[in-house]
Amino acid sequence: MTKARIAVFSSKSYDKHSMDAANEKFGFELDYYKTQLNASTAKLVDGYDAISCFVNDVVDTKVLEQLDKSGIKMIALRCAGFNNVDLVEAKKRGFVVSRVPGYSPESVAEHAVAMMLCLNRKLHKAYSRIREHNFNLEGLLGFNLGSKTVGIIGTGKIGLATMKALSGFGCKLLCHDPYINPEAEKLATYVDLDTLYAQSDIISLHCPLTEESHHLIDHEAFAKMKDNVMLINTSRGALVNASDAIEALKSGRLGYLGLDVYELEGDLFFRDLSGQVLHDDVFGLLLSYPNVLVTGHQGYFTDLALSQIADTTLSNIKAYQKGEQTGNEVF
Ligand code: NAI
Repeated sequence: MTKARIAVFSSKSYDKHSMDAANEKFGFELDYYKTQLNASTAKLVDGYDAISCFVNDVVDTKVLEQLDKSGIKMIALRCAGFNNVDLVEAKKRGFVVSRVPGYSPESVAEHAVAMMLCLNRKLHKAYSRIREHNFNLEGLLGFNLGSKTVGIIGTGKIGLATMKALSGFGCKLLCHDPYINPEAEKLATYVDLDTLYAQSDIISLHCPLTEESHHLIDHEAFAKMKDNVMLINTSRGALVNASDAIEALKSGRLGYLGLDVYELEGDLFFRDLSGQVLHDDVFGLLLSYPNVLVTGHQGYFTDLALSQIADTTLSNIKAYQKGEQTGNEVF
């Protein structure tokens, strides 16, 4: 592979902008596809040396089969998570799957904190009220963030960055992770999940989606939480059972819900569906609650993060070309 040809899937204008800028020092041939990679679009990979995917591209057995047929063995993810790749099959077939593990964790952490502040101080409501010239404060009462206990689930890079931001507000911090991060231990107390649920006023999710963490936040978990708890999920949608969250909203157990990710976001996010009827009733219901704030997977979306993602993705492909390891390989 001298001048590698790379198919970049799920690409938007901003991806092209950041990838082209980063590519000045790599000189790859980059072709941008707006379409999602999945079994029905997999034929597009013919003639390329590597592909680059994003969070909602579906790299399942069928896609891997097609990649194999086309002689492609390199999948460069432009994200940290890799739950959208069939890793068992990819490993069996000898693929190299790389990711971008540590790009600006502060971008997601700051978004999580922005969601906490917006929900607490009801900025989403105030914004529309003021535009209607309604200056009444009824219903906008907030609390002091610094007086609250925040429970962080997952104390890796983003969890730690969130804790650093929240410690600036003076929050009491609890956290849970199967592995202790010594940096996190300086800011927060590690507790078991039940204690975190029982004592936290705000819970923020920063662990990856795995078989074990799938629907981690379900009916049983809500039952262990404080009344009026705030839940923020900027990690992966399927960490939360959305139907159980609706029940918890109705009962008042869940007082505030901030979602940057949603289990079935693959059919919704990253495109303009305004003017269309949405067929996901659970999502529609969530949007109807005044104490629910949804953003469309934009936690990562800062200028710094985009340029770091582009640079690392292309470095990962360059290393693969040279037969080198970067440490960003998923296995
Ligand atoms: P990381 O790998 O640095 O940290 C994840 C931590 O979660 C690790 O310490 C791990 O031990 C812990 N963990 C694993 N399973 C757990 C469980 N069942 N319970 C509690 N902790 C568990 O990952 P990083 O960079 O902090 O990213 C975290 C997640 O954020 C990613 O997996 C991804 O899903 C999500 N993300 C979301 C973005 C967005 O735009 N909204 C952008 C980037 C990442």
